[in-house]
Amino acid sequence: TMPHGLLWLGLTLLGALQTQAQDSTPNLIPAPPLSKVPLQPNFQDDQFQGKWYVVGLAGNAFSKEDKDFKMYTTNYELKEDRSYNVTSTLLRNQRCDYFVRTFVQTSQPGQFSLGNIKAYPPLQSYTVRVVDTDYNQFATVFFKKVSQNKEYFKITLYGRTKELPPELKENFIRFVKSLGLSDDNIVFPVPIDKCIDDQ
Ligand SMILES: *[C@@H]1O[C@H](CO)[C@@H](O)[C@H](O)[C@H]1NC(C)=O
Repeated sequence: TMPHGLLWLGLTLLGALQTQAQDSTPNLIPAPPLSKVPLQPNFQDDQFQGKWYVVGLAGNAFSKEDKDFKMYTTNYELKEDRSYNVTSTLLRNQRCDYFVRTFVQTSQPGQFSLGNIKAYPPLQSYTVRVVDTDYNQFATVFFKKVSQNKEYFKITLYGRTKELPPELKENFIRFVKSLGLSDDNIVFPVPIDKCIDDQ
């Protein structure tokens, strides 16, 4: 079966993978209420655009046993209606895989919902919140979704480069632990060159 991390991506983006999810999600750590998740003040959607490397990844469906988890990228591109065209690029089975979806702005700048959620069964809800970012080095982003009545959450540490200073990783670890996760739920994807350097 797939590593849990990929499973999350797959689950979100490919409804077809749902059956694999069912046997691998036993006792989920409960998702925190959004009130416990900070929101980047004065979020600048134009500056957040561009390519981010996923340097750190934590969530209630991740396990540090996914330790050969390969780095992937997510590219944010503003469309005319100010929603984001979001493309993730992954190396899988020696091929580059691309997942494209839309993040729609909500009334709170920095918080998004998934566009055309009906295209992703069995997904019931999906929330994205930019927790903090300096736009040119790092970003912390919180994701929560409900699928088959189970609540999943994950936090990504994005970098404009593949490596980030240790303090930023430590802050990330502290933050995800404040949301109820443990070291066991944190993955630092292995940097690669294939596919993710192309865009
Ligand atoms: C979204 O991004 C993908 C991949 O870069 C691209 O093929 C597609 O045309 C874009 N869609 C819009 C509406 O910008």
